[in-house]
Amino acid sequence: METPKEIEALLKEKRIFKPSEDIVKDSNIKKFMDEHDIESYSELLEKASDYEWWWSENSDIIDWFEPWDRIIDKSKKPFFKWFINGKTNIAYNAVDRHIKTWRKNKVAYIWEGEPGESKKITYYDLYKEVNKFANALKSLGIKKGDRVSIYLPMILELPIAMLACAKIGAIHSVVFSGFSAKALRDRINDAEADVLVTADGFYRRGHIINLKANADEALKDAPTIRHVVVVKRAGNDIEMRSNRDIWYHDLIEGQSDECECEVMDSEDLLYILYTSGTTGKPKGVVHVHGGYAVGTATTLKYVFDLKDDDIWWCAADIGWVTGHSYIVYAPLILGATIMMYEGAPDYPKPDRLWEMVDKYGVTIFYTAPTTIRMFMKYGEEWPKRHSLKTLRLLGTVGEPINPEAWIWYYKNIGHERCPIMDTWWQTETGAFMITPLPITPLKPGSATKPFPGIDADVLNEDGKRVIGKGGYLVIKTPWPSMLRTLYKDPDRYIKTYWSKFDGVYLAGDVARMDEDGYFWIQGRSDDVLNVAGHRIGTAELESALVAHEAVAEAAVVGIPDPVKGEAIEAFVILKSGYEASPEMKDELIKHVRKEIGPIATPSRIVFVPDLPKTRSGKIMRRVVKALARGEEDIGDISTLANAEAVEAIRKSLK
Ligand code: WT7
Repeated sequence: METPKEIEALLKEKRIFKPSEDIVKDSNIKKFMDEHDIESYSELLEKASDYEWWWSENSDIIDWFEPWDRIIDKSKKPFFKWFINGKTNIAYNAVDRHIKTWRKNKVAYIWEGEPGESKKITYYDLYKEVNKFANALKSLGIKKGDRVSIYLPMILELPIAMLACAKIGAIHSVVFSGFSAKALRDRINDAEADVLVTADGFYRRGHIINLKANADEALKDAPTIRHVVVVKRAGNDIEMRSNRDIWYHDLIEGQSDECECEVMDSEDLLYILYTSGTTGKPKGVVHVHGGYAVGTATTLKYVFDLKDDDIWWCAADIGWVTGHSYIVYAPLILGATIMMYEGAPDYPKPDRLWEMVDKYGVTIFYTAPTTIRMFMKYGEEWPKRHSLKTLRLLGTVGEPINPEAWIWYYKNIGHERCPIMDTWWQTETGAFMITPLPITPLKPGSATKPFPGIDADVLNEDGKRVIGKGGYLVIKTPWPSMLRTLYKDPDRYIKTYWSKFDGVYLAGDVARMDEDGYFWIQGRSDDVLNVAGHRIGTAELESALVAHEAVAEAAVVGIPDPVKGEAIEAFVILKSGYEASPEMKDELIKHVRKEIGPIATPSRIVFVPDLPKTRSGKIMRRVVKALARGEEDIGDISTLANAEAVEAIRKSLK
């Protein structure tokens, strides 16, 4: 690996990385362009600005039971509808249709557990497993429109359970297995789920995590749940409550491996996925069968150039949208072979992932910048132990990638041969929005340009485009995989995304557009943190803290972290009678982990006597943030009701 000096030189050069001719010449996007007499990248983007044309050209990426007759209905905006009167089922497209082709015996998933065991399942195996579990769900009384919560680790039963729900028209709500009992309970109750699918436990860094114990805790107050289906994964001791809990293997025994697909309208609900917002209550983002299938599959086909001989590895967790879209639905729709791994990326050693790349011949690898920065810290000797010769494309997602990490990834993992697709998107967008294609010249640190058919822009406070300066990132026209609403909360949907600028989707990020029209995402514009690629609302963290008996008030801010992007710092006022001690800090950290989950672990707790507030009593988080970051200039504090709080915090920080 090059020394930091060489990296610096590379960056100073402001090098633009030209598309790889080898990849471009046989690429899916080049094929599309040839078929449509499109000669250049700019011509493609220009032509696809007629987004109805672009999406109608690509809508046959899935099979329709009945064709759609109008591409979009804008009459009730921002409640857009796509592929009007089209009938389909995403599970049919992901699984059933492949059984009728040569892909029947193609490997769908290569799975590896953390302890090292591995399994390969073909499309035909997957078909039978999905059908058995779909029939099992039916036997529990689940039907179209019912909600099923899924709280599973990275094991094959997770995609199987999701697909089984989709197949019978049930709506799944997957909750990340790293979330706490309380987070699970809130999500089950908001979705009013009838069934919970979970597991006994799973492996993480050599330990068994008792997932069922969390589920039991959540279910103490989740009255809608009638049945709990438990996958036996780790064999740990758990409690099975009679009349409620049933083993997965017992439930599917004797179920038929054939199951009719429910015919779904393209606008029928597929899933709810909760994501953090600016209040304590998570938002239930809703996606549907038709547009979501078209949007996710089309983006994966062109951005990562997925082909039948690829081995695709999106090293995320299915509990996040990245996994929903790009470990489950899109790659299965494309009939790909998909890598899936249960455990920690650096366990037992920092070369676990690279060992697997060589072992299975992975050709496309997609991960988060935080993971890359962690590998950078371990040093380049770890990837050097493996050839990595099968890789042809790389990708990143979840947060801005700093150019240093980009170059490190490019050199040490891609061996200067693999282009890096920095994909900007969100739970709400369902699919990649701002992203390179294999034909895009790359600038390290920039997600480059909008995907064809996507009209992204950067606006100032007055709604005018700004170039060269930070502004609000917006999307100006609808797209098929967009969220349809927030579950049971259409007003919040309008207020959060469609109220700042008329008729324009507000992403909640700050971005800068350069002279070449490239987008540089700079981070969130709202009170949401991005910790290791995970979105966490400061309000959620604060309400978790004040739920502790010792805490009177709390303000949470993000501070820059070299590996995680942002780290959580909490400023806490204790109630009288409680002592500011190291033990109290540990206890509060433990408490937040229990309330939300390990991803929300504060890296520092600072006890303060007071917090800066406006006259109306609102905490001025902006001031706390400037103080936490050690900034000299803390901005305008003329509206502060208690200016003395500033000095008090400075003192506490010393
Ligand atoms: C937020 C969405 C969508 C997959 C994972 C996160 C940030 C996402 C990038 C990127 C800079 C990015 C944004 C966005 N983000 N991708 N390539 N460059 N920032 O999904 O939890 O819905 O979070 O992640 O801030 O708004 P999510």
